Amino acid sequence: MYLRATMNILLLGSGGREHALAWKISQSHHCNSLFIAPGNPGTAQYGENISIDLNDFPAIAAVCRDKKIEMVVVGPEDPLVNGVYDFFQEHASLSSIIVVGPSAAAAQLEGSKAFAKAFMQRNGIPTAAYREFTVDTYNEGVLYISSHALPIVLKADGLAAGKGVVIAQSHEEAMATFQSMIKDAQFGKASERVVIEQFLTGVELSVFALTDGRDFVLLPEAKDYKRIGEADSGLNTGGMGAVSPVPFAQGAFMEKVVEKVVRSTIAGLEKEGLVYHGFVFFGLINVNGEPYVIEYNCRMGDPETEVVMPRLQTDLIELFLAMQEGRLSSASVNIDPRSAATVVVVSGGYPGTFEKGKVIDGIESAGGEQTLVFYAGIAEKEGRLVTSGGRVAAITSYGETIAHAVDQSLSVIQQFSFENMVHRRDIGYEFKI
Ligand code: AMP
Ligand code: GLY
Repeated sequence: MYLRATMNILLLGSGGREHALAWKISQSHHCNSLFIAPGNPGTAQYGENISIDLNDFPAIAAVCRDKKIEMVVVGPEDPLVNGVYDFFQEHASLSSIIVVGPSAAAAQLEGSKAFAKAFMQRNGIPTAAYREFTVDTYNEGVLYISSHALPIVLKADGLAAGKGVVIAQSHEEAMATFQSMIKDAQFGKASERVVIEQFLTGVELSVFALTDGRDFVLLPEAKDYKRIGEADSGLNTGGMGAVSPVPFAQGAFMEKVVEKVVRSTIAGLEKEGLVYHGFVFFGLINVNGEPYVIEYNCRMGDPETEVVMPRLQTDLIELFLAMQEGRLSSASVNIDPRSAATVVVVSGGYPGTFEKGKVIDGIESAGGEQTLVFYAGIAEKEGRLVTSGGRVAAITSYGETIAHAVDQSLSVIQQFSFENMVHRRDIGYEFKI
């Protein structure tokens, strides 16, 4: 065991991911006091919530000084893409604070799809064939679309809150999407540049590494379920559930993931001088036994974190210290052999328009020996818990099998309610054998 005094830790974010991270961090023997900004009523069980804007870096710095913070763990991508890591490096009074997350330059792997595609090409990392277009090359784009095989995948270059990817089933739809992204600035600056890529067929999975930019450890893998409807129907959401492990993520396939994707990516970061101390999320697709990268994220996934953290037995802060001190190559990661599944409950209407402020009955006492209830879009109002977002809570259970874990979460969901509560019943369906 590595000896170090306990630390005050600041966790940035307010979703189910951050509730799961707060739960995990609070168990660390390295953690003295935990602060969460802005947090939610779930994270408040493990530390003190502080109401600040995540992109207000001077406000984050003030909290760090006031609370004698020694480590900042960044949950969502926005502050990373906006340079929170660099802000801490550039200020002498903050530069000794450990920031878990990449530099802004490296966070471009998530912040710009075009940057990520070019990075993969330069570094020989398997990904779908693509071209990128702007208003200056609009006509070429139109021509490219007209001769492209269906379906056609169009991606707004920048951050678009998970809504910037369209899989067009016809050339007309692709053309209309292309026009609204580039000419009508559908996503503002984020769609000034558009990536058009080949559609890949296979089963997706999410692989997570923690890296110091040279060495890495892998965390448990997961699969999330993005569509609102059962049997993967309807609109994309932030995620309606997740399972871990992913049964096919083993053997020769995982060896390819490690060699062709993870190692090549981290070698590419090092070679290109992209400073990275944090999580890399590889959004992969298994195409006939070959892994392809669909996307990179520069943070943990949500709701994947809600199954990954429960399965991680190793002290998370110990891993962060190993990352900071260049000891990841000798760090070990212990994983709970049980399966974990999370089912997300959402507000009716999500991912379209939905009402907030619905009173949630019974969630404080919901749960069971095998279950963790993580809060997402939940706020406290006049002493009651009310809905405050599309994704309201993620109910994670352990089980001997994925099917048992999902069934357990579904039964815990019966213990609470709010008006227009929606969830899927088929999370993990491919693996429920
Ligand atoms: P992204 O935001 O890049 O993860 O894309 C959102 C979702 O669109 C992914 O999770 C996939 O389900 C799908 N997707 C993105 N790119 C492709 C592709 N090239 N082929 C097939 N599906 C894709
Ligand atoms: N669940 C997908 C994501 O966090 O981006």
